[in-house]
Amino acid sequence: EIIFVTGRGKAILEDHFDIAYELEQTLRERDKLDRLEEVKSAQPEAGTVSFTRQQAPLGLGHAVWCARDLVGDEPFALLLPDALVHSDPGCLAQMIDVYNDKGGGNVIAVEEVPAEQTHQYGVVEIEGSGDVFKVTGMVEKPPKGTAPSNLIITGRYILQPEIFKLLETTEKGAGGEIQITDAMLTLMAEQAFYGLRFKGHTYDCGSKVGFLAANVAYALDRDDLAAPFHAELKRLLGI
Ligand code: G1P
Repeated sequence: EIIFVTGRGKAILEDHFDIAYELEQTLRERDKLDRLEEVKSAQPEAGTVSFTRQQAPLGLGHAVWCARDLVGDEPFALLLPDALVHSDPGCLAQMIDVYNDKGGGNVIAVEEVPAEQTHQYGVVEIEGSGDVFKVTGMVEKPPKGTAPSNLIITGRYILQPEIFKLLETTEKGAGGEIQITDAMLTLMAEQAFYGLRFKGHTYDCGSKVGFLAANVAYALDRDDLAAPFHAELKRLLGI
């Protein structure tokens, strides 16, 4: 079951996950059956996708809170779609393994970044080492030089539903917005939070360089594009 929290002017997202009747008909008529299969394979099963809207840009925490009734009283995964995670197995699958191993709790995917970038993200404080550890603190967009570690929150979470109650009373934080990081910090007093240094890499498509790098990485991963694209990159770089 997938719940999208969108905003005004984003109706095209809903259409993307619906039947593209005219496109399918045209592909059928032109006998492009492999393309037709590709289009159909991206369609979710009826009734498994829902949409709700955040009516004002009050922050990520508020956006998540907008989905409270659709999520209900169950643990859920939160995926920030501008953070594209390139990993195999998928980052969420790796997180679900940790969740099952620990028998519940909350799980956050983290990744190491250079110290000079930590102020752009949520940053965790941890206890222990290795790939799975206990998270003991977290801070959203710490001022330069104050981050508790180099491990950033990458935009993939498994959270318990108690977060919604806390989001209701979470005050505005970094950037004047209601932050999920602040609500998680409060929840941490009652519930376990685990960090997973997952195998893979996150492309922050909220930044221009991240978006461009993601395009290159995903293109180089495709059998049909890798060779010609590689040649084009070499030409551009003069090598
Ligand atoms: C959000 C989260 C932040 C996280 C980041 C990942 O920030 O608040 O904790 O590190 O996503 O991309 P935003 O990108 O909305 O500023």
